[in-house]
Amino acid sequence: MRQAILAKLRDWTGRWGVARRARLKLRDWIARSGPPRWEATRDDLAFRYLRGDGVEIGALYNPLRVPSAARVRYVDHAGLDELQKIYPEHDWVMAPDVIDEGERLGKFADESLDFVIANHMLEHVEDPIEALHNFLRVLRPGGILFLTLPDARHTFDGRRTRTTIEHLLRDHDEGPQVSRREHYEDIARIIDCVPEEQVAERADEIAADPARHHFHVWELETFLDLIFVLRLPVDVEAAQVTELEFAVILRKNPDKPSDTITAPWPARRSTSSPRHTPP
Ligand SMILES: C[S@@+](CC[C@H](N)C(=O)[O-])C[C@H]1O[C@@H](n2cnc3c(N)ncnc32)[C@H](O)[C@@H]1O
Repeated sequence: MRQAILAKLRDWTGRWGVARRARLKLRDWIARSGPPRWEATRDDLAFRYLRGDGVEIGALYNPLRVPSAARVRYVDHAGLDELQKIYPEHDWVMAPDVIDEGERLGKFADESLDFVIANHMLEHVEDPIEALHNFLRVLRPGGILFLTLPDARHTFDGRRTRTTIEHLLRDHDEGPQVSRREHYEDIARIIDCVPEEQVAERADEIAADPARHHFHVWELETFLDLIFVLRLPVDVEAAQVTELEFAVILRKNPDKPSDTITAPWPARRSTSSPRHTPP
């Protein structure tokens, strides 16, 4: 009798073992059958890290999927009607709850949020150092900064020179107007490929366009260099390259020795582009 029961048990566990192995094989096949996909990576990171009250800056046509424990307010530099005019190529865009300049977040108090999401937004900002400082300013200790940026190797920026830390420090210290024209000419020359004699004219058109262009160009390594050189009060929780972009998850850690805590970056309000209306 005992032998029969044991045999039955072996039989069952064996069958379950086979079923389990098959299920894991299928899961591996689906999950690991190619390089990480950007949508799945964003989802995974969002579900792992986002909780509480936060903002997504520049969601536009592609708001991040977040877990039910995360309450998001949407921030953009313009209201819904204006966004629809600026980006007519999108049938639907997320209506912002708050209109604010994302790099300053002037409408948000210090340490008032559990997370800040900025997907494909930071490359449109003229002074990313100020933006990073303000993202961290509004986060509570332990809060999450969720960033994705286009990986220059896989976008139309591929042939542009990667932005250096020296360039960003200069934009920050002297004001972004010092390199604004250079960016427009870079886009005219390298992305739009206009002949040299038409670069100035095309740069004028880009400058007058209300859509915000890619001022800066990164790959994961060059972006992480910036984070480390700035000595931000953060722990790097995750850094992941996908086929289109890279994602970086930073957790605010005020206990970390940092330059921003002791030496706040100066406000840059007076040096912003004229079309950047103050909050
Ligand atoms: C390329 S779209 C990003 C769309 C989407 N988040 C994604 O992942 O593809 C850039 C968005 O950032 C917004 N944006 C750019 N600069 C901004 C700024 N300084 N302040 C607030 N929003 C900004 C734009 O209006 C737009 O909604």
